[in-house]
Amino acid sequence: MIPVNSVLQVGQFPEIMQLEIDKRLSTIKLLDPHGKAPDGSFAAILTRSNTQLPKELFEAMPSVRMVATCGVGYDNLPLDYLKDNGIKASNTPGVLNDAVCELAIGMLLGLLRRIPEAQDFVKSTAWSKSPFTITSTLAGKRVGIAGMGRIGQDLAKRLEPFKVKLAYTGPSRKELPYEYFSNIKSLAQACDILLLACPANAETEKMINAEVLDALGPKGYLINIARGSVVDEEALLVALQQKNIAGAALDVFENEPNPNFGFLNLDNVLLTPHIGSATSETRQLMTNLAIDNLEAFYNQKPLLTEVKN
Ligand code: DGY
Repeated sequence: MIPVNSVLQVGQFPEIMQLEIDKRLSTIKLLDPHGKAPDGSFAAILTRSNTQLPKELFEAMPSVRMVATCGVGYDNLPLDYLKDNGIKASNTPGVLNDAVCELAIGMLLGLLRRIPEAQDFVKSTAWSKSPFTITSTLAGKRVGIAGMGRIGQDLAKRLEPFKVKLAYTGPSRKELPYEYFSNIKSLAQACDILLLACPANAETEKMINAEVLDALGPKGYLINIARGSVVDEEALLVALQQKNIAGAALDVFENEPNPNFGFLNLDNVLLTPHIGSATSETRQLMTNLAIDNLEAFYNQKPLLTEVKN
């Protein structure tokens, strides 16, 4: 049992998630994580991966011993502070793989076949004047995945039927039937399409820089469903403007929800507003897994999906 009003809910939750929360919990809400912590002795925080929690929030509420974030990424949490103060954290891995992989494949195909422009072409009646541009096929391409965790591996399985050659990079080689590259530059060099599915952390920050984009080359495509921080956006803008790479499909940005304006007028991008997990089915599963973790914490049981910090 989770005691009434013992969980502080931080940040704005979409309606579908709030409905799930209200079915199972009675929470106190703090919309702005930088706002004044409400009075009360909260033992836990419930939040979302798009809400950056400052360490000051935890400092102001020493009663908090656990934070449950809805999302597989947990770069929104002040990990060092949590670790130093023995505060537990949970995330929601696994339940969002289907939705994230479906979006990644959709973006990949949309970018190569220029599906958004093709629709505009029909809707604007331009088709009656000339045929649509010839595009590029996925079959036969070499696809490199950066980050072969749960999502990366699910993506690879979904890509196999598309008749592509798969390769990957990550901190270590895995027992997988795909070629392994020990660094991102050599993977980019060997691939036509580079798909980012790695976590955001100090090792991956701005990992996709000018050198890696040069290695991907003028026929190469970049797909980012990971985090904006993994890409040096200034370098990517230059590469796209100068056609040093063929195109990019981006679901995530350094500055959300106000991405760098430079991306907005390019014709070799496909942009979506961080919707990898944004299906009603997935958001319900994520919310319930986060609450299951809260329940485990209150029942003094091991967390189901603890962030090993
Ligand atoms: C995650 O789970 O980290 C996603 O980015 C949230 O949509």
